[in-house]
Amino acid sequence: MNIKEDFRLALRELVYPVCIVSAHNDETKENHAITVSSVTSLSFDPPSILVCINKDSSIHSSLKKDSNFNISFLSSSQSEISNLCGTDELSNKRFDNDFWNFKNKVGFIKNSQSVISCIVEEITCYGSHSVFIGIVVDVFKNDDTKPLLYGKGKYLDI
Ligand SMILES: Cc1cc2nc3c(=O)[nH]c(=O)nc-3n(C[C@H](O)[C@H](O)[C@H](O)COP(=O)(O)O)c2cc1C
Repeated sequence: MNIKEDFRLALRELVYPVCIVSAHNDETKENHAITVSSVTSLSFDPPSILVCINKDSSIHSSLKKDSNFNISFLSSSQSEISNLCGTDELSNKRFDNDFWNFKNKVGFIKNSQSVISCIVEEITCYGSHSVFIGIVVDVFKNDDTKPLLYGKGKYLDI
């Protein structure tokens, strides 16, 4: 029995919302973005959310305590930006397009289903990933869209 592979296959059967987590690194002046599905609301008081990000990903070192980041929950038509931010080889093309708007230097995806702006409150490193707890400081929601979902290795529509 290969636990890691069985775990991966079991998770692959589930359906997840697709999000883009984005941040600006004040030291390097670079923008970073990553496609994530491991995003979960944490508490309403205070409003908080958590996201799990691989330590090897390029955005990881830009997410520091008290730094700002955005979570854009993608709309069903936005798989292209998910592919750009979810594919290592396309990392230099992530911001070279029209998908983005910026607020306080941090990018977010235009016309996404919602954008949740956060400040990093806590970081817990565990194994290959870090869990970032964000305090929610702003919310934008678009009532006219359906979410982009991912399951069984492909994008799904509802
Ligand atoms: C639908 C989807 C969901 C993903 N979810 C996560 C996630 O929750 N956490 C994570 O660290 N990587 C996740 N990834 C993988 C990263 O997006 C991918 O490895 C990305 O290339 C890492 O960024 P980097 O190339 O800048 O290092 C996901 C990819 C896809 C396509």
